[in-house]
Amino acid sequence: MSLVNLKSFNDYIMDEFLQEGYVCLDGTCGNGHDTLTMRKLVGKSGKIYSFDIQEDAINSAKELLSSKKLDCENIEFLVDSHEKIDLYVKESIDFAIFNLGYLPGGDKALTTIWDSTKKSLEKTLEIMRKGALLSVTAYPGHEEGYLERNQLKEYLLSLNSKKYNITNLNYFNQKDTAPETFIIEKRK
Ligand SMILES: C[S@@+](CC[C@H](N)C(=O)[O-])C[C@H]1O[C@@H](n2cnc3c(N)ncnc32)[C@H](O)[C@@H]1O
Repeated sequence: MSLVNLKSFNDYIMDEFLQEGYVCLDGTCGNGHDTLTMRKLVGKSGKIYSFDIQEDAINSAKELLSSKKLDCENIEFLVDSHEKIDLYVKESIDFAIFNLGYLPGGDKALTTIWDSTKKSLEKTLEIMRKGALLSVTAYPGHEEGYLERNQLKEYLLSLNSKKYNITNLNYFNQKDTAPETFIIEKRK
């Protein structure tokens, strides 16, 4: 693992935690890199729900998966907002990842917004089984992302420590606008 970017840290967490057959949620599919990592690790017997509001993003995620010769039968790609999780996910989940912000190289206006991110995280925590993990990476380097990261921190601070363990990886010797990852474990 390298700390050159938080994707590598998230890949490490997924590699350590995910097992064949696990049920996962990708709240922000984008080009599908996290969905791909999850699909490789949970295998054919797992299940992945992968959301994005952009159809183009979902299409490029599908292309990525098929370029790796992985079938997508057990991936439910959903062109919808993650705040509607409860309409689609009717089972408990083992792992969820939210890579907030906008698609690199894409339309910056199509960024995650705290109001809907908060609703989605609340719904995600609800359906996580005990022992499940949620990874949220925030990008405070742009205006909306800065607000979102600050509100995310406030929200996570409000969560009961008897119910959730939360760790935070940040670039300690960099500016306050560097990306940050939060890992939330639903306690057993
Ligand atoms: C940083 S990118 C995700 C990158 C992705 N994880 C990958 O591996 O390529 C953030 C994505 O969130 C999506 N997004 C923004 N608001 C959303 C919402 N309300 N529901 C679902 N996806 C959303 C954007 O369209 C964008 O593709």
